Amino acid sequence: MAPGLSCRHHRQTVRTLTMTPSSHLSRIEWVGQSCALLRAIAAEFETTRPFNGLTIGTAIHLEPKTVALLMTLKAGGAKLVATGNLNSTQPATVDYLRREGITVIGGQTTDEAAHSGFINQLLDHQPDLLLDNGGDLFARVAERPYGSLLGGTEETTSGRARLQPMRGAIGLPVLVINDSPIKQFAENRHAVGQSLFESYMRFTNRSTNGKRVTVFGYGACGKGTAACFRNAYSAVSVVDIDPISALEAHLDGFSTPRRDDAIRSADVIVTVTGSANILTASDLAALKDGVILLNGGHFPHEIDIAGMRADAAVVSPESYVDEGIETLALADGRRIHSLGAGHMANLAGPRALGNSVESMDLGFALQARCLERVASRTLDASMCVVPVPGDIDAMVASAYLELHR
Ligand SMILES: NC(=O)c1ccc[n+]([C@@H]2O[C@H](COP(=O)([O-])OP(=O)(O)OC[C@H]3O[C@@H](n4cnc5c(N)ncnc54)[C@H](O)[C@@H]3O)[C@@H](O)[C@H]2O)c1
Repeated sequence: MAPGLSCRHHRQTVRTLTMTPSSHLSRIEWVGQSCALLRAIAAEFETTRPFNGLTIGTAIHLEPKTVALLMTLKAGGAKLVATGNLNSTQPATVDYLRREGITVIGGQTTDEAAHSGFINQLLDHQPDLLLDNGGDLFARVAERPYGSLLGGTEETTSGRARLQPMRGAIGLPVLVINDSPIKQFAENRHAVGQSLFESYMRFTNRSTNGKRVTVFGYGACGKGTAACFRNAYSAVSVVDIDPISALEAHLDGFSTPRRDDAIRSADVIVTVTGSANILTASDLAALKDGVILLNGGHFPHEIDIAGMRADAAVVSPESYVDEGIETLALADGRRIHSLGAGHMANLAGPRALGNSVESMDLGFALQARCLERVASRTLDASMCVVPVPGDIDAMVASAYLELHR
């Protein structure tokens, strides 16, 4: 109790703090309130109604940040039909969307056949526009086209790579959000850097001060990650197989030791390369006692946790289950810790929140503006699987600056 407070006063203070009448709001509402750009666009769409009479179909992670986007499209007059991506659908989000009158097909699943069925059911509605995340919708459209489709958007790099060879079969405008410079610097650089740094703290509750941190990969995500740890008083090294990226890291003031030296000296190793087997069992001999390994790359193949677990040098794998931390005890007494089983750490472990709301607000503002552009019927098939038009990037950047200056 604070000095000078009587017991009675203390009890009253606690009651006042915990029982102040207020509505019980959810994270969905917090996120919605925090998306300043989407709120401004929704207010405009209520007047301009760019999607009047149109149905938008989407297959995207159904989690709180997506709600803000879907409610913005609804404000623009769209009827919405939604399903999730594999393994990321949050039941509370589905309930919320259904209460808002949005048709949600299926639910959380890791079963690819079930997910494929949801995609078919969604396309049975023959939406006028598609908002895709990973290419599941447009890949199916390439096989089973229908006449009323105007085109749409694709959120990711992996979706772009998948859809590019199908451009001829799709033959409609599809704008790729990931290729906007805004997405590259706002999400991949700043937000991934911050959220991987936050993940290290959230999982471990360990300090970063004076720690030797090695970041594998100096692309957009690696740049942000290296900067966040450096700003938190760690000594950061960078390893990148591309000599130009490694040179950039060097000129940015990071040490760029050879791979083996960088592994041997690290207290924390972060992989953000997009490539497989960055760290494998063959590195166990070099890793420092107590090292913490985490991955930020899309696939859980950057750190071969299963291979390490199975190595003869490991005498006992142990798990802090609730923390999402696994420890491999080695025969020579060293202990190697990994976070979230090598999955993207910012989406794994206890209370994973993913990238910041502001970065998603920017990305989803690009989504809303691109769908508005496709709905305007001013684009043709030459705009199939192409980056966000420059004027939309400029419009979204100016709007964000106006709101946040
Ligand atoms: N966690 C998230 O929320 C999130 C968000 C966006 C992207 N990502 C993922 O992060 C990964 C990196 O994305 P990016 O935009 O920085 O990619 P990028 O292509 O810009 O950068 C990757 C870098 O890794 C380097 N690299 C590749 N193989 C390497 C190796 N064997 N050793 C050392 N360096 C190597 C490349 O030379 C390149 O400089 C991708 O898998 C991407 O999908 C994750």
